[in-house]
Amino acid sequence: MERFVDMHCHVLPEVDDGAQSLDDTRKMLQMAHDEGVRYIIATPHYHPHRGKQPPRILRRQLRLVREEAAKISGRLKVYLGTEIYFGQDVPDRLEREEILTMNRTRVVLVEFSSVDSFERICQGIQQVQMGGYEIILAHIERYQSVLTDIDKAHHLVQMGVKIQINADSITGENGRKVKRYVCQLMDHDLVFCVGTDAHRPKVRPPHMKSAAEFVTKKYGEKYMRRIFFSNAGDMLLKKKKRDESR
Ligand SMILES: [Fe+2]
Repeated sequence: MERFVDMHCHVLPEVDDGAQSLDDTRKMLQMAHDEGVRYIIATPHYHPHRGKQPPRILRRQLRLVREEAAKISGRLKVYLGTEIYFGQDVPDRLEREEILTMNRTRVVLVEFSSVDSFERICQGIQQVQMGGYEIILAHIERYQSVLTDIDKAHHLVQMGVKIQINADSITGENGRKVKRYVCQLMDHDLVFCVGTDAHRPKVRPPHMKSAAEFVTKKYGEKYMRRIFFSNAGDMLLKKKKRDESR
């Protein structure tokens, strides 16, 4: 069975609009495991409306999630990050460690409003980069200003941005236009990694398998493994052994 890294997942219970209870968490972990996911970076929102819990609470919830994951399988590992909605306060808060990076690396998962202009997206990215952080841009296919023009994705990659797409965009659940765009991104080798962006057992569930099968058929197994496993794994899980012992 293929193994996947899901580096965008709202599996932490009761901290945002993701898992609403430990029972939701349990179901999501089981589904992810059955789909072949072996490493999850839980990415609760840092967002003005969807959730903004401090690291202390997030770490406490992570412990609960890890206990549940261990009951399913010793091979299902969960780490902590944040999906950061960009705002002017973000660079300072990162520096003060009030917002968590991805698994204690200098990598951050950043999102913007779907209607932000391309200029605002680029400026926001540069502000975070200036603090010495590497950026994974969450679900690029959601930003209207980028979706219309593949050159904009090229531009972002040239800026050093890593591009994340959602698994359900590959399988067409977000419409044909979005599916066409993510295929175009893959045609141009602009995708760094795929995440589920799972929220609850029934709200964008943590499905990976059929998206991975589609990519394998269209682009080959080697490419699929890169964007579903090794790119994110190499970048975010290097300190795996040290963190597991904590
Ligand atoms: Fe998300």
